[in-house]
Amino acid sequence: MNKVKVAIFASGTGSNFEAIIEQAIENQLACDVAILVCDKPGAKVIDIANEYDIPTFVFDPKNIPKKEYEQKVVKRLLLMNVEWIFLAGYMRIIGPTLLNAYEIKIVNIHPSMLPAFPGKDAVGQAFQAKVKITGVTIHYVDAGIDTGPIIAQESVEIFPDDTKEVLQKRIQQVEHKLYPRIINQLIKQSLKVEVTD
Ligand code: GAR
Repeated sequence: MNKVKVAIFASGTGSNFEAIIEQAIENQLACDVAILVCDKPGAKVIDIANEYDIPTFVFDPKNIPKKEYEQKVVKRLLLMNVEWIFLAGYMRIIGPTLLNAYEIKIVNIHPSMLPAFPGKDAVGQAFQAKVKITGVTIHYVDAGIDTGPIIAQESVEIFPDDTKEVLQKRIQQVEHKLYPRIINQLIKQSLKVEVTD
C-alpha cells in the first residue's frame, strides 16, 4: 500500500528531521518523507536530506517574496501528492498561501510548554526566566507565532546545574521521540476518518 506523503520544513541542523526519516525508513511510520523544504541555503539539514536521498526544495527568502516562494512550494508539494507538512525547526512564519492550501495539515514542534516562551530561542527564554520546568509542544500551525491548537506536550525538568546547552540537548532528546510518535498518530487517525466517512 502507498504510504501517505509528508513534507518536512526545516532551517537548521536537522536533528528532528533525521529522527523522523530514520523512523520512516525503518518502516515505523505510516508516512514517507517525500521532500525537505528549507529556507536556508547551506543549512546542515540539506546535507542530511542528500545523505538519505530525500528530494529538497531550497530557497532564499532574501531573493523572493513570501507569496511567490509559498506558491512555488505549494505547487511542488501538490505535484508530489504531499498531504501533511511538519515543521521541524523551520524559523519562518507560514503565510496564507500555505495555510489555505494545507488547512489543519501543518504541524509545528516548539521547545517550550506553550503558551509559555513562544518565538525565537525558547530554550534560552526558559533558562533565563529560571523556571524549574519547561518542555516540548506539538501544535497545529495558524497565522500567529506558536499560537495554534495544541496536540501534545511533554515536560522537561530544568536542574540547578544545567547549562543552556545541556538543557537544549535534554529537550531535543524528548523531541526526537515525541515528534515521530505524534506524526504517526495524526496520520493514522486521518486515515481512519477517511475510511469511515
Ligand atoms: C528544535 O528544538 C525545534 O523545537 C525548534 O528548533 C529546533 C531545531 O532543531 N523549533 C523552534 O524553535 C520553532 N519555534 P533541529 O534542527 O536540530 O531539529
